[in-house]
Amino acid sequence: MSRTFYVTTPIYYVNDVPHIGHAYTTLAADVLARYKRIMGYEVFFLTGTDEHGQKVEKAANAAGETPLELADRVVKRFQALWKKLDISSSDFIRTTQERHKKGVSHLFENVLAKGDIYLGEYEDWYCTPCETFWTETQLNDGKCPDCNRPTEKLKEESYFFRMSKYQERLLAHIEANPEFIQPKSRRNEIISFVKEGLRDLSVSRTTFNWGIPVPNNEAHVIYVWFDALANYITALGYPDEEGNYGRYWPVDVHLIGKDILRFHAVYWPTFLMAAGLPLPKKVFGHGWWTVEGQKMSKSLQNVVEPNMLIDRYGVDAVRYFLLREVPFGLDGDFSHASLVHRINSDLANDLGNLLNRSTAMVNKYFGGQVQEPEEPLEIDLAYRARSEAMVAQVEANMNDLAFSKALQSIWEVVSAGNKYIDETAPWTLAKDPAQRGRLATVMYSLLESQRIVYFLLSAFMPKTAVKALGYLGWEEAPTEAGLAWGGLKPGTAIVKAEALFPRIEDKGE
Ligand code: MSP
Repeated sequence: MSRTFYVTTPIYYVNDVPHIGHAYTTLAADVLARYKRIMGYEVFFLTGTDEHGQKVEKAANAAGETPLELADRVVKRFQALWKKLDISSSDFIRTTQERHKKGVSHLFENVLAKGDIYLGEYEDWYCTPCETFWTETQLNDGKCPDCNRPTEKLKEESYFFRMSKYQERLLAHIEANPEFIQPKSRRNEIISFVKEGLRDLSVSRTTFNWGIPVPNNEAHVIYVWFDALANYITALGYPDEEGNYGRYWPVDVHLIGKDILRFHAVYWPTFLMAAGLPLPKKVFGHGWWTVEGQKMSKSLQNVVEPNMLIDRYGVDAVRYFLLREVPFGLDGDFSHASLVHRINSDLANDLGNLLNRSTAMVNKYFGGQVQEPEEPLEIDLAYRARSEAMVAQVEANMNDLAFSKALQSIWEVVSAGNKYIDETAPWTLAKDPAQRGRLATVMYSLLESQRIVYFLLSAFMPKTAVKALGYLGWEEAPTEAGLAWGGLKPGTAIVKAEALFPRIEDKGE
């Protein structure tokens, strides 16, 4: 039976253009998707845009466009960036698409028919930028507790979702499934939030109309988060059980930023419970990036634009940096200096040099041909064992979404390779004709270990991996079976590698 894996990113608001925060989640999902494909899974990787709601309507008004014109324009920016970032998504959902609107209406009607959505009246403090109602006690000096902007008192007829009914069931689910909400610290926050009590949730609006109408009551549009969260199933063809929905739901992991964890770990699962649908297996809330120590914001004009980074440093350097620099669950700081440092030390020095040295030596000593290795010595066996252990460590780390640790375990083997060269001193062996076999074995170990390194790295740095594997005489796509030691065949032609990552002079920006 084939194994499936479904991973999602949040769908991005079209009132903003993409920045490294958006690129980060999408990239993490891409690396996971690519890794699972190597491991033989049939992967569905979804991303897209969130195009309804008051925020988008307001931004469109300000720009003198219709909301759809704005969305059509901005969505291209996201799609172009994902292409440039080598994002291998299976589908891109826009909430203005018919398939989505149909699915959302169906979900809403389904929950309404079950009695868990009812018509009532709402009066509370509303934060327009966050599209969230707050109670008096939740406010900070009258301001929104999330964004600290002013709130206004609003009263409207509204449909409510009976979220309170699901409080105990949700809590029991979270407690019985430690994997469900990650990382652990965030899980604890959600547990406390749910224990404080869930109120019924307003799931429709009458004050604007840019959204999906409530079925049979067009004075209301469906609340933007009810609409947006449903993308994870509408993109699969929900409610049609055939095809992708039946095949991929429940999702293996929703990757999101910590700021939208509550929507994914409380609202979404309770909507699904009400609709009688299975819950996500895992929701992971990653940390936030600051820039040179400061919060990224338009007013500070410090928003890091991924296109510019890619043009300047190359796509794989950016991909590597974002996932290596900061453990996935934690906040991190972006700076040009640390990016340049990673490129020079990890990529140019450690990784690139190892490939250069080894492919140059096999060309010099054996005319660029892989030789049959001899009986290995202790030092060869230790190097091989490290390479094999790396495969298992990466597997464990990827399943924990510990991208940085996975890269660390790969780099331990890269460093071990550089050390292996120093210790075996091939240039000395080359001087002695009696050591030809020994030299062949050393060369074999070096090239074979790197072949496995680049198999794994193909999830993180696809272009670099293809290039490096090309030097190593490997043309096919990496597979799980190919991760076993011994795949490199004697006789293979090895090309002397050019620098994968030229060193960058840090101009201290
Ligand atoms: N449209 C909603 C999500 C709906 S999902 C059903 C939304 N969109 S967003 O465009 O505002 O944000 C999308 C993601 O970008 C969030 O996961 C958020 O955490 C992430 N980031 C925004 N700024 C960020 C940083 N500075 N650093 C890391 N991630 C950040 O929310």
